[in-house]
Amino acid sequence: MSFSSSSSSSCLTELMENKRLYISLLSYVFLLRIFESSLTPYTCFINFRCAVVTGANKGIGFEICRQLALNKIQVILTARNESRGIEAVKKLNASGVQNVIFHQLDVKDPTSISHLVKFIETHFKKIDILIVDKNGDYLPGVIQETYEMGEECLETNYYGTKKVTEALVPLLQLSKSPKIVNVTSSYGQLSHIPNDELKRELDDIDNLTKERINEIIRSFLRDFKAAKLRENGWPLTPSAYKVSKAAINAYTRLMAKELKYILVNCVDPGHVKTDMSFNTGKDVMEGAKGPVMAALLPDEGPSGVYFEQTVIAPF
Ligand SMILES: NC(=O)c1ccc[n+]([C@@H]2O[C@H](COP(=O)([O-])OP(=O)(O)OC[C@H]3O[C@@H](n4cnc5c(N)ncnc54)[C@H](OP(=O)(O)O)[C@@H]3O)[C@@H](O)[C@H]2O)c1
Repeated sequence: MSFSSSSSSSCLTELMENKRLYISLLSYVFLLRIFESSLTPYTCFINFRCAVVTGANKGIGFEICRQLALNKIQVILTARNESRGIEAVKKLNASGVQNVIFHQLDVKDPTSISHLVKFIETHFKKIDILIVDKNGDYLPGVIQETYEMGEECLETNYYGTKKVTEALVPLLQLSKSPKIVNVTSSYGQLSHIPNDELKRELDDIDNLTKERINEIIRSFLRDFKAAKLRENGWPLTPSAYKVSKAAINAYTRLMAKELKYILVNCVDPGHVKTDMSFNTGKDVMEGAKGPVMAALLPDEGPSGVYFEQTVIAPF
């Protein structure tokens, strides 16, 4: 009797143990499901610093992505052409660089910009670095610069930079260490502008406004159409490219003043061997060094400055 009573009690204990185990297992599965539902394919990258690079399927932008990724930054490589962008990421992955993903972005297209913003909000919540590096279909080396080419150049280089920056600033403001880098050119330096009054105005950051930059661009295009570029002291060949970069430089300084929490700088990569330079100049690895250095500046680093590669130089 005593045997049978002890055996039934041990049986009961075992049953209780199993039940407890079963309940714990159920709770575990339940919690796992909740956790899983909050995951996205990119959740594993959320603790990484995240960078968006525009126009990055080739040239300097592509190399910037590679160097940032090697610095343990999660990179969103963007390009306007989806297959060229995917190919670029595959190339990086094949060389052992894994923390790079692709998202389509045409800097001129507001719908494309808002899709990128939604993608980041969903999967990354914030970004830490924005590098605006792209050059429109306009090649500064061309001899005959038409009005249409000039207009397209300003639309891509200046207004494209502005649209992407303004859309991504709210996501940069969620970063502990936000940086914006605009890739510019020595052609954008004020020394290329013959009109002294215009030069003075673009350099007077305390009084310059974004509206005034827009007006300056409109008057440039008017003069371009009316063949009055030389007469009115605009930079010549490649005229629109120089004006677009001078406008980006001035915009960089205004943004640095406005967004005190973000380091906003522009970098001239120098003469770099890419399609744009007809494959002349230094290696892209050298050309990407300046923009990457500006992206990785310490938080107390400079803001609103022009880097000639890695050295601060005058606007
Ligand atoms: N290379 C130099 O010697 C040099 C010198 C000074 C400054 N820079 C500056 O460095 C930057 C990069 O030039 P790079 O030499 O690397 O030129 P690149 O090899 O010609 O590359 C330009 C990139 O911009 C992309 N792009 C053009 N329009 C776009 C748009 N609407 N939206 C998004 N991306 C667009 C191109 O995409 P697709 O492939 O689809 O055309 C390409 O990926 C430019 O800002 C340029 O002004 C270059």
